[in-house]
Amino acid sequence: MDGGKLKGSTVVTHVGHWRNISVLSHRWWSSAAMLGVLTIIFAMAAPAIAQSSEQHPWMNKSLSSDERADMVLKEMTLAEKIGLLHGEGMPGWSRVMPKLYLGNGGAGFVLAVPRLGIPQIEMSDAAYGVRMSAQNGRYSTALPANIAAAASWDPEAACDYGALIGGELRAQGYNMSLGGGVNLTREPRNGRTFEYQGEDPLLAGTLAGNRIKCEQAQHVIGDIKHYAMNDQEDGRDEVDVIISRRAMRESDLLAFQIGIGIANPGAVMCSYNAVNGDYACQNKYTLTDVLKKDWQFKGFVLSDWGGTHSTVKASAAGLDMEQPLDDFFGQKLKQAVEAGKVSMAELDDHAHRILRSEFEDGLVDYPTQKSVIDVEANLAIARRIAGQSIVLLKNKDGILPLDRKTVRSIAVIGPHADTGMISGGGSAQVDPPGPASPWQAHVWFPTSPLKAVSAADPAIKVQFDSGADPSSAAALARQVDVAIVFAYQWMSEGKDLPNLSLPENQDALIEQVAAANPRTIVVLETGTAVTMPWIDKVSGVLEAWYAGSKGADAVADVLSGDVNPSAKLPLTFPRSEADLPHPDLVKPPGGGGDAGAVVKPEDAKPTFSVHYDEGLKVGYKWYDAENKPVLFPFGYGLSYTTYQYSDLKVEPGKEPTVRFVVKNTGSRAGAEIAEVYVALPADAGEPPKRLAGWSKVHLNPGESREISLPVNARELSIYDEGADAWKQLPGRYTFMVGGSSKDLPLQQAINLP
Ligand code: GLC
Repeated sequence: MDGGKLKGSTVVTHVGHWRNISVLSHRWWSSAAMLGVLTIIFAMAAPAIAQSSEQHPWMNKSLSSDERADMVLKEMTLAEKIGLLHGEGMPGWSRVMPKLYLGNGGAGFVLAVPRLGIPQIEMSDAAYGVRMSAQNGRYSTALPANIAAAASWDPEAACDYGALIGGELRAQGYNMSLGGGVNLTREPRNGRTFEYQGEDPLLAGTLAGNRIKCEQAQHVIGDIKHYAMNDQEDGRDEVDVIISRRAMRESDLLAFQIGIGIANPGAVMCSYNAVNGDYACQNKYTLTDVLKKDWQFKGFVLSDWGGTHSTVKASAAGLDMEQPLDDFFGQKLKQAVEAGKVSMAELDDHAHRILRSEFEDGLVDYPTQKSVIDVEANLAIARRIAGQSIVLLKNKDGILPLDRKTVRSIAVIGPHADTGMISGGGSAQVDPPGPASPWQAHVWFPTSPLKAVSAADPAIKVQFDSGADPSSAAALARQVDVAIVFAYQWMSEGKDLPNLSLPENQDALIEQVAAANPRTIVVLETGTAVTMPWIDKVSGVLEAWYAGSKGADAVADVLSGDVNPSAKLPLTFPRSEADLPHPDLVKPPGGGGDAGAVVKPEDAKPTFSVHYDEGLKVGYKWYDAENKPVLFPFGYGLSYTTYQYSDLKVEPGKEPTVRFVVKNTGSRAGAEIAEVYVALPADAGEPPKRLAGWSKVHLNPGESREISLPVNARELSIYDEGADAWKQLPGRYTFMVGGSSKDLPLQQAINLP
């Protein structure tokens, strides 16, 4: 280049700090020299580039995940295989963890095999958002709790839910989710009810499946848990659940079967408890006979944290990976293989399943890259999903939506209602902005009901009272047009609720406020059902659950009418604990709380058992079979408009089609969750009815829509233990359609072969 002037046609390439390099200059010697330099640079880079594409034939994306996994497996040493089958620890786990520093700060990780181009598996809890963000200096969106998402009965919302979490996991450097809890609400006092999807296997499995499917689409391994029958927290890792196979198959296992069928999750997490004598993480019937043989599950089974109890027995039963450490699947497994107690074929199957999921879910082909999420976009999604999850339980005299013309003053009452809303605790805990919270702390998200209600209409005078002194709150309530009490019930992993009552004398507070002003509305921030001794004294009730980062705004959207509530209960609200299948929760001999990080003796035994004699009669199936009235039934939820059902026609066939018409007979647009139930023949030995399908239909005022719902054969079948297979009995099947399990105006019976 003469004097730096570039001549001839110039292609500007930026190679390191050498900018504006002319490649096509007219001086032959300068371009030759430059060409020489560029050749050397690419020559240096080539092997690294080639290594990731040509050197490893399993990097060929046109091959199946099974083929790719087998090709890697052939190259692996015994030590490398064993290294895939256990974790390296979790921050805060009270054990020596020499390699913890290699992890991404999440709940667990599995070391990479760099020689073979296999990346680290970086796991994080992610029930309703990515966990442990505070201690890692990251940011996570808190979606409404999983039970809230279930109340939307909306598979598309479940997909948005999973996609958001999958995206935030990747942005934080994770490539495996530990969300996806689907245990049925057999016991509403279960401390993790907020983390699950309610009491019906079809609803729970469908929503969990769609969440996990869309989570995996973000190139993370999805996980469905806790497999299985982990339906209470007290003594969770020493309880032996006794239940018949048919009952299991038609309740908790059915939720997993449906979820796995929809999502093809890369992983299933086996649970702490034992089932019929064997711990779930070494239970041959559930892990191999049902999950891997009957359902043909191709992914891997990982233990819950500290849920592994043996080496040879667990490996043979179908456990593929121990988390978070290597008490049984590290050195002990290596010794067992070398001693011939675990065959190489069995070990290879464990490793193959893990490698297959890494290929299948995009971990190898799409390495994680940390990035900044779109905070505002994700908060808007959280607000929208929360609005679809809030259940309107009572609306006397149409007090809701608040009439801006006549309501000139509002009292917002309740502990923290000026600053925040409660969230669910334990490993699901999402951190709000600020320092990390200790285990099982009450965590309030900075989404303020007072601010949100005030912002909804600045012309309305809004005042606050914490309710600490009920007479002060009552005095304020007396002066305003409407009193809104925000009541909460906190729950967490690791312990069950003592009862279904609101804690901290909130029932008395609500009673006194309602006595002072009958135009009282209660907004519930709960993770499960609650009893309501004051229900006849208040005018309105909203179940807002744990509503997430934008919960208060979503509640205000519903109170003001900007959002017309469409959610329905995914679990029954009983009148009292006395009506539950187990009025008294069976407690562990040692008082409860799990053993956590201690090294368990090989093949330790459960210390107590619980008999789920109600069997498959979970939730509404129990109350129906026992003829017990309930406070609010499964599938119940009001709207600001009304709907009418008509023209039911059931077309017989192997998979009958149920057709009916829904009409919006009110004055506002809305979405109606139309529910289809079926009563099986009397000799099927089933409860009065079961959910067989539903459709969420958006209707403008006056609009009608014909719905046609195919009912698949399994929804009409029972599990025959003798034949160890699903069976559809000949006989009379009654189909029922309506807006709640207790409001089914359309009924038609047909005979099926
Ligand atoms: C916990 C939970 C499980 C969680 C895991 C990692 O004990 O039972 O749901 O994913 O350990 O935190």
